[in-house]
Amino acid sequence: MSEPALDPRTGTLPAADVEAMFDRIAGRYDLLNRVMTAGLDGRWREVAAAAADVCVGGAALDVCCGTGDLSLALERRVTGRGRVVGLDFSERMLQVARRKAADAGATITFTQGDALALPFADHEFDASTVAFGIRNVSDLDGCLREMARVVRPGGRVVVLEITMPERLRTFYGAWFDRLIPVMGKVLGKDGAAYSYLPASVKRFPAPRPLAARMASAGLTDVRWQLFAGGIVALHYGRVPE
Ligand SMILES: C[S@@+](CC[C@H](N)C(=O)[O-])C[C@H]1O[C@@H](n2cnc3c(N)ncnc32)[C@H](O)[C@@H]1O
Repeated sequence: MSEPALDPRTGTLPAADVEAMFDRIAGRYDLLNRVMTAGLDGRWREVAAAAADVCVGGAALDVCCGTGDLSLALERRVTGRGRVVGLDFSERMLQVARRKAADAGATITFTQGDALALPFADHEFDASTVAFGIRNVSDLDGCLREMARVVRPGGRVVVLEITMPERLRTFYGAWFDRLIPVMGKVLGKDGAAYSYLPASVKRFPAPRPLAARMASAGLTDVRWQLFAGGIVALHYGRVPE
């Protein structure tokens, strides 16, 4: 597999390449996640679901839902009385998500769509979330605006994403630049996908600038918290009343 070429305009892979990349790795994605995060990713998604601040019977949208782990965490909060929609453009990732939801007895609608043109009405949800996905979207501000648009006034927009830590940059650089692509090649049989990962993290805004971009997208009361020594950031803000 050759190295993926980043679009010089957006700094991301072209959308069709991102979709094809996730279609390719869908069957191995969950295993790679668990191994690369030493099993911590589940806990981060639980905290992200809590930050969405949805109640039993509420409605939540999980953008770039992938194999559906955050969608499932949201469903445990709104329960079968509520509504969770997971949206992704990779049909293969969605297939895995649908299977997992069926196994868990969870009622979630998984739908194919683009994070930059959400097929939902204004204010349709109590919260929207995105976990480890927005870094791949070619227009960060456009995605944040869309996520805010579909949430009711007073509802939350939540972003969980890998970030460059302020400290431990040398260790982190070695782990990310060397170990992750090797693990991707060995476990995921796709070194190209996992050498794209460090590149996409390096050009993604640090926590403070990301909070400013969320505020520019119209969100208020934007806060963030860091996990795992600052390599993962959870941001959340409210749609103004
Ligand atoms: C790293 S995975 C994250 C999946 C999941 N949210 C999780 O927590 O594991 C990123 C996902 O974003 C999706 N994606 C990237 N850009 C997208 C876009 N513009 N519209 C919809 N899905 C997109 C990919 O297909 C992929 O499933």
